[in-house]
Amino acid sequence: MQYSQLRIGFIGAGKAASALAMALYRSGWQVSAIYSRSWNRAVDLCKSVSANLCLTTYDVLLRADVVFICIPDRFIQQVAYQLARCPSSLEGKCIVHTSGTLDIDVLEPVRASGGLIGIFHPYQTLASRDSWKLLSKSFVGIDAPDPVFQLLSDIVRSIALDFFDLRNVSRVPYHISAVMASNYLIALLLESRYLLEKAGIPQDQAYRAVISLAVGALQNASELGLENAITGPLSRGDIITLHKHLQYLENAELYKALTAYKSLGLLLLEHIKKGKGKHIPIDQLDSLLGL
Ligand SMILES: NC(=O)c1ccc[n+]([C@@H]2O[C@H](COP(=O)([O-])OP(=O)(O)OC[C@H]3O[C@@H](n4cnc5c(N)ncnc54)[C@H](OP(=O)(O)O)[C@@H]3O)[C@@H](O)[C@H]2O)c1
Repeated sequence: MQYSQLRIGFIGAGKAASALAMALYRSGWQVSAIYSRSWNRAVDLCKSVSANLCLTTYDVLLRADVVFICIPDRFIQQVAYQLARCPSSLEGKCIVHTSGTLDIDVLEPVRASGGLIGIFHPYQTLASRDSWKLLSKSFVGIDAPDPVFQLLSDIVRSIALDFFDLRNVSRVPYHISAVMASNYLIALLLESRYLLEKAGIPQDQAYRAVISLAVGALQNASELGLENAITGPLSRGDIITLHKHLQYLENAELYKALTAYKSLGLLLLEHIKKGKGKHIPIDQLDSLLGL
């Protein structure tokens, strides 16, 4: 089949589905069908990508050749069983999920009923429909037997930067890495903003200041490499400063922040040790941070 005739459908109309559907639509793919649990998000997305609103998952199968399942991981297998029971044939239909952690086997019911299966996991944080813009600079992890692998890699080339071949990749550490670089980064920024406000900086300034600092750190990391972007009291061996930070968090009873500060400090120290750590009191820093 010519790619120009290929119809793409979505089950789910949340953050990932919205960003992917927009990216595909804007790259000239035909987004033909969308179904989701609640209609309002699906209706909105259908309008943005000129797709048909579907009332059932079967309806998506009838109107699409490639179906992206973009729903919370815990429901994917249930939907796979549902699709496998579809009264019309799954022959030639390609069903992919977008989960970072779940294996391709979760789609086994679809494969057993004659469908083709795959994984298409954007290694990017997709927070809204506008996140489609981030995809062009992002990697996408794909896993599928041929010829679906070829199709998915062609789709990646049209909307994203490059793909990871997930066929021999250990998926759990792969996905932990994604969670740490995006979701947990946001957790740190939320805590940083809270601490700035607690210190007495007005709320609107606190948000802008934290964002500008984090953008600076990411810019350094991008231009100099991760190891060369390390700055701060640990990299200088400033024991007294570290001691004051820990004491403050303890006295303020910010125990979760204290645990995070210590854990991340220990992780950072590992990298400092490998680099120019010779001139700093590593052992003292290590024992102060010890959990
Ligand atoms: N967001 C990201 O950054 C990102 C990146 C890479 C991969 N992913 C993957 O994409 C998938 C979806 O994540 P998300 O962030 O887009 O989640 P989300 O924003 O919470 O959206 C989930 C969507 O699925 C719908 N839904 C839930 N259960 C359903 C069911 N049983 N049948 C049909 N639709 C159902 C929800 O409907 P309601 O509106 O009724 O809740 C919602 O539209 C996950 O597997 C995730 O691992 C996400």
